[in-house]
Amino acid sequence: MTDLKPLQVKIKRSHTGDKSEPHWQTYSVPRIRATRVLDAIEYIQDELDPNLGYRRHICHNLVCQSCTIKVNGHARLTCQAVILPDVSEIRLEPLSNYQLIRDLIVDYQTKV
Ligand code: FES
Repeated sequence: MTDLKPLQVKIKRSHTGDKSEPHWQTYSVPRIRATRVLDAIEYIQDELDPNLGYRRHICHNLVCQSCTIKVNGHARLTCQAVILPDVSEIRLEPLSNYQLIRDLIVDYQTKV
């Protein structure tokens, strides 16, 4: 498994109040570190980009449900979303039905 090409993780970056358009940023994540989408995001925050906006969650196990983002256009729990070995790229975005705070973080109290 270690000889697989790294997973390409494209993340929609944006900031509330920032006048610039959202943009996509691509991160290269070793496959061994990307079993689930949550693993890939935590690797990016820990090793590549500590400024990436994403809430760190304590349950990691389908309880809090606050890890939900759009994965390839569909709302998914990142702690549940498995990345299959034949997948080479994933796209991650914040949920679009809540107020955006930053990057992948939304305000669950404010629907839009
Ligand atoms: S981290 Fe709690 S449900 Fe995913």
